Amino acid sequence: MYKIACFVSGNGSNLKAIFEEIAKGNLLTEISLVVSNKSDCNAVKFAEVNAIETFIIAKDSSNYSELINILLNKKIDLIVLAGFLKKIPDFFVDAFPNKIINIHPALLPSFGGKGMYGMNVHNAVFNSSVKVSGPTIHFVNNNYDEGLIISQRAIDINDVKSPEEIAVKVLNEEHKILPFVIRKFSENKVRVIGSRVLID
Ligand code: GAR
Repeated sequence: MYKIACFVSGNGSNLKAIFEEIAKGNLLTEISLVVSNKSDCNAVKFAEVNAIETFIIAKDSSNYSELINILLNKKIDLIVLAGFLKKIPDFFVDAFPNKIINIHPALLPSFGGKGMYGMNVHNAVFNSSVKVSGPTIHFVNNNYDEGLIISQRAIDINDVKSPEEIAVKVLNEEHKILPFVIRKFSENKVRVIGSRVLID
């Protein structure tokens, strides 16, 4: 069975979307571990209620080495940052080359970088008056939001009246694209060719 670890910090709606696709039989994947920097967030509560093992990252980030060992022992195939809002240390990223993916709520390379998460992103998108937004899934490297782009979905935001409206539309797309990309990984249909990522 293909095994993933999901890293979360907040509501966990993406975690729930993945969980539901697995429950429906659309995704032959096991969520082997939920990792969070916030022990009391809704995403961790969701994991606990659904009997998924959890791991809480220490405030001083001192247990990342322990986490690497756990992930290696569990033979995790893919690490999914599904609403994880803390920078991951370089040595952790280096331990899993091309095995960590992140979902970002805008069309990278615009509206990314330090401080660009959650509503900060949607406020910037709204105020820039761009006409499309949407989720990006990319590999995680040592620079914030700069790893190779795996998949994107553009949605029309021409008529939106607020950043909150953009957030709802983008999150709705996130819940579709993230399980889709994980399924493609689990089917070994994601290939990195030079600087481009191809999905068969
Ligand atoms: C999602 O919109 C995700 O794209 C974003 O946090 C939200 C988490 O929602 N991630 C980032 O901004 C990362 N830079 P969720 O907890 O309901 O899945």
